[in-house]
Amino acid sequence: MSTSYYINTTNNRLPANLTTQTLESACALDFHQTLPGYAKTPLITLPGLAKKYGVADIYVKDESKRFGMNAFKSLGAVYAIHRLLQKNPNLDTFCTATDGNHGKAVAWGTKLFGKKSVVYVPSDTTASRMDAIAEHGALVEKINGNYDDACAHAERMCNENGWQLVQDMAWEGYEEIPADIVAGYISMFIEMENSLNTLPQPEVDIVFLQAGVGSFAAAGIFYYLHRYGVHRPAIVIVEPREADAVFTSFQEGKLTTSRGNASTIMAGLNCGTPSSGAWDLLKSGADLILKIDDHYACQAMRDLYHPVTGDDRIIAGESGAAGLAGFIALCSEKELTKAKEHIKLSHRSRILFVNTEGDTDKPMFDKIVKEMTR
Ligand SMILES: Cc1ncc(COP(=O)(O)O)c(C=O)c1O
Repeated sequence: MSTSYYINTTNNRLPANLTTQTLESACALDFHQTLPGYAKTPLITLPGLAKKYGVADIYVKDESKRFGMNAFKSLGAVYAIHRLLQKNPNLDTFCTATDGNHGKAVAWGTKLFGKKSVVYVPSDTTASRMDAIAEHGALVEKINGNYDDACAHAERMCNENGWQLVQDMAWEGYEEIPADIVAGYISMFIEMENSLNTLPQPEVDIVFLQAGVGSFAAAGIFYYLHRYGVHRPAIVIVEPREADAVFTSFQEGKLTTSRGNASTIMAGLNCGTPSSGAWDLLKSGADLILKIDDHYACQAMRDLYHPVTGDDRIIAGESGAAGLAGFIALCSEKELTKAKEHIKLSHRSRILFVNTEGDTDKPMFDKIVKEMTR
């Protein structure tokens, strides 16, 4: 099946809401820099890949190197836990629902502060993802349902047991903690711009951001809108075809649940409903929303693992490679000409992706990168 796209007319204004207020006043990077193992993650240029796809430059911010956690999610969880403990140092047990990386990040973050964690995962979570969370000391439990069911279950268990919920998606009445999580993600964009400034080309033209509940994409949109206003780069959101909650919400003009069947290899993006805290930012600054088939994620993983001669090898998981996968889809399908024109994708474009995870599901990663054909 081919890629679907939605062209959004942006107003380029930061929405006046709690998420924006939180992001405007936060300085999570100052906190992150105090943590053991903090190091700026690399920004890698791939001239060979840029040539292959006919663009001027491709930059990849490699979040697989973040805190030794193999994914960017630790930035958000640890900052939110720190903020909660500043307000109430007696909190003892933190709880969340996850499709993998956020739960691992919460487990790691609570352990750093000497606290306990309980993590609920959807029924289709692989054993290797559950083990990776448990390795950080969390009690991990599989529930009978999908990601949204796991979120509802985690909230119920927190109410029953007096635990603290640390969820990376907001809903009405639960907005402060997800906003702190988005604030934590901003650190990677600040780091990235500083790195970009040391490269010959100081700016990028098009940024591809993959979305699950949309908190990561909201962080990117806030960063670029806040810093550049209308001069920001074009922003493309990429989702799996079968987990298309952001795409469907744009089509309907309001927050809506995915119409897909929730089967995708991009486990980190397999979410049913966007975060209410992210939604207004997505509307303000996302120019194009793509929903793509899994095979593009596989192709992107292989492109990064088997690089063009001279380029660095990058280990990217299924969701980590999704931004590049969206770009490959745009370059591959002639039906997407209008979408390409909208973001002015041309041979002069400088493209930026974030590799949001490494091989977080090793058996699956090995299988995909070793399969040389689709
Ligand atoms: C590796 C990876 N990339 C991207 C995302 C998307 O982030 P968000 O759910 O904030 O849209 C996730 C979410 O879990 C993830 O695990």
